[in-house]
Amino acid sequence: MAKSMQLVELMAVMEVEYPAKNAVFVAHAFHQESYAKSVIPVPRFPVISPMMKRGDSMDVSGFRSNFPTLQGDAVPIYLDNACMTLRPQQVIEAVQQYYSKNPSCAGRSVHRWGMSVSQTVSRCRRKLADFIGAKQAREVIFTPNATHSINQVAAGMRWEKGDIVIISDREHNSNLVPWLQLKKQGVELCTVASHADNTFDLEAYESACADAGENLRMVSLVHVGNLDGVEIPVAEASKIARDHGAIMHVDGAQSAPHIPIDVEALGCDLFSFSIHKMLGPSGVGALWGKEEILSTLEPICVGGGTVSSASTAEYALREIPDRLEGGLGHYAGICGTEAALDLLAKYNMLDFAAQEVRINDIITNGIKDLPGVEIIGPEAASKRGGICSILLDNLDIQNVGILMDEVGSVFVRSGLHCVNQWFEPRGNSQGSLRASAYAYNTEEEARCFVDTFTEIINGLSGED
Ligand SMILES: Cc1ncc(COP(=O)(O)O)c(C=O)c1O
Repeated sequence: MAKSMQLVELMAVMEVEYPAKNAVFVAHAFHQESYAKSVIPVPRFPVISPMMKRGDSMDVSGFRSNFPTLQGDAVPIYLDNACMTLRPQQVIEAVQQYYSKNPSCAGRSVHRWGMSVSQTVSRCRRKLADFIGAKQAREVIFTPNATHSINQVAAGMRWEKGDIVIISDREHNSNLVPWLQLKKQGVELCTVASHADNTFDLEAYESACADAGENLRMVSLVHVGNLDGVEIPVAEASKIARDHGAIMHVDGAQSAPHIPIDVEALGCDLFSFSIHKMLGPSGVGALWGKEEILSTLEPICVGGGTVSSASTAEYALREIPDRLEGGLGHYAGICGTEAALDLLAKYNMLDFAAQEVRINDIITNGIKDLPGVEIIGPEAASKRGGICSILLDNLDIQNVGILMDEVGSVFVRSGLHCVNQWFEPRGNSQGSLRASAYAYNTEEEARCFVDTFTEIINGLSGED
């Protein structure tokens, strides 16, 4: 009785007459108002660090205290952040709460658990949109990862024989292979070579756009390279793409976690990124796109949740975001994503970037003069963000990677980093050893990297 009184009151506030035509909506609102918040309380985190001016050092130890894997004795030095970051307690708890308190699906079930998850998904979508400067939350699509986002774009467009796609020579395989697949449809891929120091050659890019002429349909460029940390001038590149009538897609897998993103200012049409590289759970990614483009993409996964009607003869797709989110989603991951975004919201991404360059500076200066060592990309760490990718003469990269852990508990990545297209023409089949920092890495850890690496290189090359 008390509940039905509440419902009547709620309908009165919403100026809904009883019996309402949109009773389902009223029921949804009722559930949201009365139950959802109590099922999963919105996490309230203490303010860890006030916004700081560029260049100030951030409260690294305060930030570190959020991460269980960084507590206690024998904590490894985690420098494999370009693969995935560590997860803070808040994210772990949000995932755990989803499974222990309301393990339901969004957008379908109207019971209180289902409504709570629906509410979390919409809140999280809004927060993700805010995080990347997007105006409309519905322009953010949840995907399993950046690879899936890019595949959705490449496979979802309607191509014509002779269409041209431009990429750079430093793309991750996830921003190469989906475009190569289009060859079967007569789409041509054009690669723009970077400068010798791996920085973006804007002039070469502009001429490639001009050469492609009317056939240019799509430009897809990595914002910050996972190979070298080099950032490209996306706003300029977007303008050139636009001037040539092309759609601009940005692979933001390595930029969104490390620098402030404003898709409006970048002037791009589509932006793919992964949440597991920015404190969130594994297997969550996102695709942002302008509504008019997303709405024309053919979904690569259709079925439950994507259609407004379906019969044995035909179907009609829903509007975005639903049409591009087929099947039940990774709701635990989305709950964790919201917690990650709430934590990130306490910080200024410029401070993250500055801290990561500080770490990279120590690493770069500490190792650059060692025998047989060459750093990929520009000399200055400030031009490579938090990434120091090292080529080694005559030493096995995998062995050095293993030794880094065994000798100094330093976790790095060794190999091709899925950027085969950069190593292959250089005759390098073993790749590089990559240290990639995140804002929780300390200067002491960077010095430990230098000491461990120096000991190994000197030891293996007989310099000791
Ligand atoms: C630049 C870049 N693009 C795309 C990807 C693919 O991301 P995901 O693993 O989320 O699909 C990565 C992953 O490392 C990356 O570094």
